[in-house]
Amino acid sequence: MKVLIAGCGDLGTETALRLQRAGHQVVGLRRDPSVLPPQVTGLAGDLGASLPPLPADVDAVVFAAAPDERSADAYRRVYADGLTRVLDGLVDAGATPRRVLFVSSTAVYGVTDGGWVDETTPTEPASDTGRVLVETERRLLTGPFPGTTFRLAGIYGPGRTRLVDQVREGRASVPEPPVHANRIHRDDAAAAIVHLLTGTAPLGEVYLGVDHAPVDRGEVVRWLAERLGVPAPEPGPDRRSRGGDKRCRNDRLLGTGFAFTYPTYREGYAAVLAGQGTRHP
Ligand SMILES: NC(=O)c1ccc[n+]([C@@H]2O[C@H](COP(=O)([O-])OP(=O)(O)OC[C@H]3O[C@@H](n4cnc5c(N)ncnc54)[C@H](OP(=O)(O)O)[C@@H]3O)[C@@H](O)[C@H]2O)c1
Repeated sequence: MKVLIAGCGDLGTETALRLQRAGHQVVGLRRDPSVLPPQVTGLAGDLGASLPPLPADVDAVVFAAAPDERSADAYRRVYADGLTRVLDGLVDAGATPRRVLFVSSTAVYGVTDGGWVDETTPTEPASDTGRVLVETERRLLTGPFPGTTFRLAGIYGPGRTRLVDQVREGRASVPEPPVHANRIHRDDAAAAIVHLLTGTAPLGEVYLGVDHAPVDRGEVVRWLAERLGVPAPEPGPDRRSRGGDKRCRNDRLLGTGFAFTYPTYREGYAAVLAGQGTRHP
């Protein structure tokens, strides 16, 4: 299978390497493809401006770009217009991918009361950036090719040590009142994309990509403090409420037969603290 990964950064490259090890060919599109590993064929292009001719023989596409800044304009350029450019480019090339997978975000949900969320929960984002993601999902699902949107929770993993650093340096607090946060280890996110693209079962249009443990963020910072041997963080105002307060379910992803390597933050952060893996540029 030949896979085009549009926006081939950390998650895209990890996905590419796993696909390549499984015997697939990968083309990675980004503005600076010179940093891609040799196993990935680089293709220079700007999703926000114009794209080079896309390969006609792609069997599947992963859209995993992330804008440089968190603004509605930047999101529109890279996500909504960028995805449209990719779909148009595929049509122009005469390509007929059997699946285009858009890496979206759980930010499409506006739940803030700690309630449970799944793929059937209405998308009522609280932010302008979230609204652009909903619009991008709509463009994919009404587009020319079979589409799947994969809504990831916060990615953590190799090199993503902001929370660990805050706890180590005594800058973290236990949110008061408690806030439920959802996450997925980068490697599980990449493995799930490979699983969805290469599986034989028919795919649905939407999957949540979250681990088994939506938890109060305070539990995570207390656990990290204990592992790091530093004093337990004190209660304080939540400074990271961007993700709302919700608990996301992963039953639909599990129903496809996917198994997590890092089912909860404990296994995942243990690997991060042990220095396992590297963050791709
Ligand atoms: N981080 C999270 O917690 C989180 C949560 C939910 C969902 N997600 C989603 O996960 C996906 C992957 O995230 P990531 O952590 O792998 O991001 P990343 O490492 O920052 O990679 C993003 C890639 O997008 C490329 N890119 C950005 N603007 C571009 C443009 N105009 N044209 C072409 N390529 C462009 C960048 O390469 P160049 O600079 O070379 O162009 C970079 O390689 C994204 O879709 C993101 O929205 C992330």
